[in-house]
Amino acid sequence: MSIEPVLDPHKLVKELDGRHLINGELVPAKNGKNFDVLNPATGKVIAQAAEGDADDVDVAVSIAKKAQKDWANRPARERGKLVAECGRILTQHVEELGRLVALESGKALRTESRVEASVLADMFVFFGGLASELKGETIPFNPNMMTLTTREPIGVVGAIIPWNVPLLLMAIKVAPALVAGNTVVVKSAEDTPFTVLRVCQIMQQVLPKGVLNILSGFGPGCGGPLVAHKDVKKVSFTGSVETGRTVYRAAAEKLIPVTLELGGKSPMIVMDDADLDKAIAGAVGGMRFTRQGQSCTASSRILVHEKLHDEFVSRLLAKVNTLKMGDPLDEETDIGTIINRKQRDKVCGYIEIGAQEGATKNELSALPSDPKLADGMFVRPVVFTDVKPDARIAREEIFGPVACVFKFKTFDEAIELANDSDFGLAATVWTKDLKTALTATKRLEAGFVQVNQNLVVQPNLSYGGVKLSGLGKEASLESMLEHFTHKKTIILNME
Ligand code: NAI
Ligand code: MG
Repeated sequence: MSIEPVLDPHKLVKELDGRHLINGELVPAKNGKNFDVLNPATGKVIAQAAEGDADDVDVAVSIAKKAQKDWANRPARERGKLVAECGRILTQHVEELGRLVALESGKALRTESRVEASVLADMFVFFGGLASELKGETIPFNPNMMTLTTREPIGVVGAIIPWNVPLLLMAIKVAPALVAGNTVVVKSAEDTPFTVLRVCQIMQQVLPKGVLNILSGFGPGCGGPLVAHKDVKKVSFTGSVETGRTVYRAAAEKLIPVTLELGGKSPMIVMDDADLDKAIAGAVGGMRFTRQGQSCTASSRILVHEKLHDEFVSRLLAKVNTLKMGDPLDEETDIGTIINRKQRDKVCGYIEIGAQEGATKNELSALPSDPKLADGMFVRPVVFTDVKPDARIAREEIFGPVACVFKFKTFDEAIELANDSDFGLAATVWTKDLKTALTATKRLEAGFVQVNQNLVVQPNLSYGGVKLSGLGKEASLESMLEHFTHKKTIILNME
């Protein structure tokens, strides 16, 4: 029976209430426990999610282990076709998934949530088409020996995902893992369990049972046992640096490979010859103000040449001021809410710290006036100017709608300032001069560098950071080959 899109997200969460998805079935937690999931725009409970623990992890991993043998034995292109088919079916659910993720995450439907739902579908189609690329090599080792390599699946993959872009971040783990012949157990983020559960439910129409399983639950109670489980042979994690370290330590005990996509404090350098219109639009987009700045690649450090600084700042403030904050499900809304109270308190704490540190606080846009949204997690976007490079707001990841603007005189000074960070995820440079652009791309310490634009994660482009921003790449062929397979060397002696 085919699953029809359900456009009312309030109705849909009731269907998914209190369930994991294991072995193709929606099942409750073994301990019978659930936890509340809130709509961050109203503070009201929308439904409950199953609170998974080590027992649920055990069931899901053993099912995934059992399913992996048959899955890996299928021809690679057959697996690819099934994963691509998931993408095509998910295309029919873009509106449904967009609404659902807007409800549980507080991200505005028009500017963020619907866009994310369509990229999700595209990622599955993209990776499905890469199955034939799981190729090995022949090696001219010895004329009397045929020497070759093959790409083998790793086994059961544990995928731990965050709440800021749950659909996309799940897709860039699940799609390549499955195509490469692994099976997967996903642990969803506490605040956004439903949309990813729905995606897995939709995918069950195509995938064999047990190949993709999803658990909801808390980090230490459910994510911890997943990482530690003896039959999980690879972990792919996106989230905070602190939790990334915990995951890495636990994986080290088992000596299994780990991919970590952690935070950022990404610089954007605006040179004196930059196209100001484009750079300002790039700052608003790059800072992800419409996602409340909740992005690991957010251009949260904006470095502007002194010649353009004042005009840039006044035009940036004016532009951010036009963004409308409101109900995430309203088509008119540009900016929704912060994910939860803890994150809102953290962001507001940084805004206070910034002012105490002596930076000039420019608070923009207006809080929504609708009384229904009075308890929502709304935070007005803030652009800090006159920021000192050693200020906490300049160095720590805020993960909220808070940008810091710095003034520089020379190119060298800008590069030095840009690289003076513990992080190295993304960077952009805005200039019309080819030499400046090329020199900057060479010198910037980041995994994802762009000139005169500020795109988000794209299929086919390796994505991942250096320094504290993480380990490994995602979203590309390289990510599938390097992070979801191991290479086997085979030698045939022909003498
Ligand atoms: P977190 O890193 O604690 O959570 C991310 C995921 O890890 C969630 O699914 C969580 O349940 C899981 N997790 C937590 N503890 C775990 C453990 N001991 N073992 C296994 N899994 C565990 O992030 P949180 O607390 O939601 O946000 C805190 C900060 O993290 C944010 O302010 C932001 O700076 C950063 N962050 C970065 C993201 C990124 O895209 N790089 C995404 C989300 C948060
Ligand atoms: Mg946490």
